[in-house]
Amino acid sequence: MKLNVFSTLTAAAFMAGTALADSFAWERLELNNSILVVVDIQEGLYNLARDFDPTVFVHNTFAHASIGKAFNLPVVLTTSTETGPNGPLPQEILDLYPDAPLIKRPGEINAWDNAEFREAIISLNRTQIILAGIVTDVCTAFLARSLRAAGYSVWANIEASGTTSTLIRDIANAQMLRAGVNVVSFFDIVGELMRDWRAPVAKNLLPWLDTYMPAVGMTARAHRAAIEKGALIPGEDKLPS
Ligand SMILES: *[C@@H]1O[C@H](CO)[C@@H](O)[C@H](O)[C@H]1NC(C)=O
Ligand SMILES: *[C@@H]1O[C@H](CO)[C@@H](O)[C@H](O)[C@H]1NC(C)=O
Repeated sequence: MKLNVFSTLTAAAFMAGTALADSFAWERLELNNSILVVVDIQEGLYNLARDFDPTVFVHNTFAHASIGKAFNLPVVLTTSTETGPNGPLPQEILDLYPDAPLIKRPGEINAWDNAEFREAIISLNRTQIILAGIVTDVCTAFLARSLRAAGYSVWANIEASGTTSTLIRDIANAQMLRAGVNVVSFFDIVGELMRDWRAPVAKNLLPWLDTYMPAVGMTARAHRAAIEKGALIPGEDKLPS
C-alpha cells in the first residue's frame, strides 16, 4: 500500500514535469532576519482595491503596517510618484515610523528598480521580506518577484494587497506562488513571528491583536470575562467538555 502511494506520487510528479523543479524549501520567518515593507499603500491608490470591502481593506493595511511595531522589525516604506494622483501614505502609517526610510520613487513602478530602495533593503542585511502593496498585480508582485530573483525570501500578506478585481488578484497571487513567494494571511505572518504564546515577544501582543485581529481579541476578552465574573448558565454543564 505504502509503495502504491509512493509510486502514484512519483508518477504524478514526473508527469507534472517542472512542478518539482519549481518547488522551494519551506523556511520559517525569523524575528532577527525579517524586514517589514509597505509598498505604495497610498491614499490615491486605495480606490483601486476593488477586491475587498473598502473598510476592511483600510483596516488590513494598517494592520500590515503595524507588524513592524508589534515585533520591533526594521521597516522600509516606499511610494510611487506621490506628488501625482497616487498621493502620500496615510498619516496613520507615517506616524508609526517617523524614522524609517521612506523612499519616494519618482517614477519607477517596480520598487526594486530604484537604487535608493534597493540600498535601504540591502543595508539591513536581512534576507526575509514581508510585504504588501496596492495594487497586488503590479506594486506587490513586481517587487516580490524581483526580490526572489535577487535571492530574498518573500512573504506577501494577501490581506493587505488589493487590486481591481478578484480575477486579477488570483492571477497575481498565482504568479507570485510560481516565483516561490509565500502568499499568506496576516495571522500566518503573526503566528510565524510569534512562534509561541509564551515567547517574550507575545506578552504585549493581545492588545495589539484586539485592534488588528478582533476575532482573536474578542475570544480573549470573553475568556477573561468568564474567569473574572463568569458562571455556568443552565445547560452549559451538560455540554461536551
Ligand atoms: C536568528 O535567531 C535564530 C534563533 O532563534 C538563530 O538560529 C539564527 O541563526 C538567527 N539568525 C540570524 C540571521 O542571526
Ligand atoms: C550580515 O548578516 C550575516 C548573517 O547574519 C552576518 O554573518 C554578517 O556579519 C552581517 N554583515 C554585516 C555587514 O553586518
